[in-house]
Amino acid sequence: MGEQNGAADGLARYEVLASSFPTCRGLGTSPYRKFNNFLYPAHLMAPTLAMRDTFVARPTDVVLATMPKAGTTWLKALVYAVVHRGRHAPRDRRHPLLLSSPHDLVPFLHSLYQNSSHPTRLIDAMPSPRTLAVHAPLSLMNASVAASRCRVVYLCRDPKDALVSFWHYIAKAAKHPAVPGSSLAPFPEVFELYCDGVSAFGPVWDHMAEYWKESVARPEEVMFLRYEQLKEDTVGSVKRMAQFLGVPFTDDEVTQRVPEAVVSLCGMDRMKSVEANRDGEHGGSGWTFKNSAFFRKGEVGDWKELLTPEMASRLDAVVEENLRGSGLSLIRN
Ligand code: A3P
Repeated sequence: MGEQNGAADGLARYEVLASSFPTCRGLGTSPYRKFNNFLYPAHLMAPTLAMRDTFVARPTDVVLATMPKAGTTWLKALVYAVVHRGRHAPRDRRHPLLLSSPHDLVPFLHSLYQNSSHPTRLIDAMPSPRTLAVHAPLSLMNASVAASRCRVVYLCRDPKDALVSFWHYIAKAAKHPAVPGSSLAPFPEVFELYCDGVSAFGPVWDHMAEYWKESVARPEEVMFLRYEQLKEDTVGSVKRMAQFLGVPFTDDEVTQRVPEAVVSLCGMDRMKSVEANRDGEHGGSGWTFKNSAFFRKGEVGDWKELLTPEMASRLDAVVEENLRGSGLSLIRN
């Protein structure tokens, strides 16, 4: 089934389907499509649907799930370094993460479906363990993800910081000549949309709540992490991730400070200095920008730059209200 559905004409079928879904204004430069109560950047709707129908997970897969601006690039780097440390020592000066973007080493499934004419053939040919990433909500994942019992790592971030991060990212990315040039709305307008649940692959609270509930129901297979925890205790978080992924650090590795070496390899300054992260490009048809847009400050609480205390309280309240009943609270948990 895979190859046939993954071929270019297979995607055309999903383009037709996607075009029947309602559209609304997006947070950035492009509109969103609405499907099953979630919003998708219009150009990623068809690839995401193709992924839902044709991606077949393996038990050895590691799937990283995030909303945009939650720290995806960092998570990709850390997990890649942990999973592949047998072949690529984190202190190796020719480590793949010093030569390629984390987005090339851990590709987004939607990008593979968007940019390849034979995505399923490509994905099937990837050697195990495959490390792959999605922004899609859990409810849009192929049933094989749960059935295969592969590992899923979800990273969430304070929505206030994610929104401010998104604002800077879109301003930077939209300057690239390959990005269609519609102008950005002023930040207060974007804030209002966000409080109404508008965001890529959002609403943000529903995206988090789905993965949270799954992590409670299947803790051996779904790990729920926060960017803030990663920042506070990166080494401890990396050790927990390695344990969860079935590749715990040995006593020898701990003595040799391998977890610390992973953290140092993936640190912001080191990653920013890599040529592929500075000058390389990301995207696909109609939306291409420099990889440098993925790296900015990487701070907790940077929302203070753009949100007033009133706006912050309002967004916190909207998020908590919408999370009510899910068991997740960004304030309590
Ligand atoms: P800021 O804009 O707040 O700095 P994503 O990878 O999901 O697009 O998220 C991008 C955010 O993660 C940006 O946040 C970026 O600076 C931050 N980030 C990228 N690499 C990082 C790293 N190595 N360590 C910490 N944060 C990082």
